[in-house]
Amino acid sequence: MRPLSIGVAGLGNVAQGVLALLRENGALIAARAGRPIAVAVVASRRAKDVDLLGADFTTDVGSLVKRNDVDVVVELMGGEDAALSLVESALDAGKPVVTANKAILAAHGDRLFELAARGEVAMGIEASVAGGIPVIAALTRSLVANDIDRVVGIINGTCNFILTGMSSRGERFDAALAQAQELGYAEADPHFDVGGVDAAHKLAILAALAFGVPFSRDAVYTEGITEVTPEDIAYARELGYCIKQLGIARRTPAGIETRVHPTLVPLDNMLASASGVMNAVELHGNATGSVLLHGPGAGGRATASAVLADLVSIARGERPVAYTPAATVPARVAMTDVVTAAYLRIPAIDQPGVFARIATILSEHGISIEGAIQRERAIADRKVPIVVLTQPVPEGEMNRALDALAALPAVVGPIRRIRVEHLDG
Ligand SMILES: NC(=O)c1ccc[n+]([C@@H]2O[C@H](COP(=O)([O-])OP(=O)(O)OC[C@H]3O[C@@H](n4cnc5c(N)ncnc54)[C@H](OP(=O)(O)O)[C@@H]3O)[C@@H](O)[C@H]2O)c1
Repeated sequence: MRPLSIGVAGLGNVAQGVLALLRENGALIAARAGRPIAVAVVASRRAKDVDLLGADFTTDVGSLVKRNDVDVVVELMGGEDAALSLVESALDAGKPVVTANKAILAAHGDRLFELAARGEVAMGIEASVAGGIPVIAALTRSLVANDIDRVVGIINGTCNFILTGMSSRGERFDAALAQAQELGYAEADPHFDVGGVDAAHKLAILAALAFGVPFSRDAVYTEGITEVTPEDIAYARELGYCIKQLGIARRTPAGIETRVHPTLVPLDNMLASASGVMNAVELHGNATGSVLLHGPGAGGRATASAVLADLVSIARGERPVAYTPAATVPARVAMTDVVTAAYLRIPAIDQPGVFARIATILSEHGISIEGAIQRERAIADRKVPIVVLTQPVPEGEMNRALDALAALPAVVGPIRRIRVEHLDG
């Protein structure tokens, strides 16, 4: 059969992974796809000393869409403007697209899927979330008969590596970040990862596929991991939890919640065991219950595996992803209405009655205490951290309680609040 001929935009980590996998596993892939996948052209900013498998090289990215020998445009440039315009013009021209670009999908996914549907062309996005983990296929194919009510995941390997380092070696955030940078797991400008932006992009995609809500990065409440301390990790452990940076998309009676933030996860939960740069995603469906996918969430080869999976689907004449917007778009739950339990670390002066005062204020706001840690002796300057684990409470009520606690004369520094998820049921 005629090969499926692709044009690749970009020649970075993932594109080089695609070329390497085609070189190594080309025959296997051809047998499984029913025909070979051949690279007609690679378009990127500059040439590199890389085996292009006989493909042409050009710096004219736009030419991929015009070439008759390109059946599928594979967008692996990253960034927003140039990538978006390439993907749009390919879909407009009726050419299938495979992209790993979570940033353009999180912001423009609806329009891109609409274009793809209008032209009846395939758009493969498996590589855009969790690298080598087949989470998009799981949601849109393998678990498609389920009513999904929860997608929760560790979807940023950099954050997981940093939190794992802080947890196992007691390091502070800056030291763990420096190590991640040294090992190439974090960029020189790490904000995108540690600030939660990358995970928010991925969660926006997962929420759209799981619940049929519009793709909206702005609808994802986002908090990074920069304020997490080794003390918090140690107290959490004492209480039976670890701290993970989670992306949480959940359907509740009030609507859809989408949030990314540091979270206390019970030590015996499956997600607690994902360490280092690994990713893990739990999909909860009404037929299967909990399904956990665990594996490499990034890396050129692992991500290329996802890109090639989409290309094999297209070579077989399938459409890799079906995004089905909900007939009635569910409401989004405002963050102030989200109900979670919380871990609070309250820096207080070591004097009689402080804990009782704190407990009274929490109780006045309808917040019950589930557990607490109060050290006998002040650690410095007569300050003693009081650690409280609460029962679930609406975020707005907790915010009001935190304001009242902060106004207590005995509270002598910022109160640290980390949300708690039990993820059972
Ligand atoms: N790396 C991963 O583990 C991973 C995992 C999942 C998803 N992704 C996604 O995959 C995509 C590619 O990531 P990557 O890690 O391969 O990135 P990368 O290593 O930075 O490679 C990007 C490539 O595209 C080229 N490029 C960028 N902008 C361009 C433009 N406007 N015109 C022409 N060429 C351009 C770059 O040129 P230069 O060589 O000159 O810089 C580079 O060759 C991104 O959307 C990323 O979010 C990556």
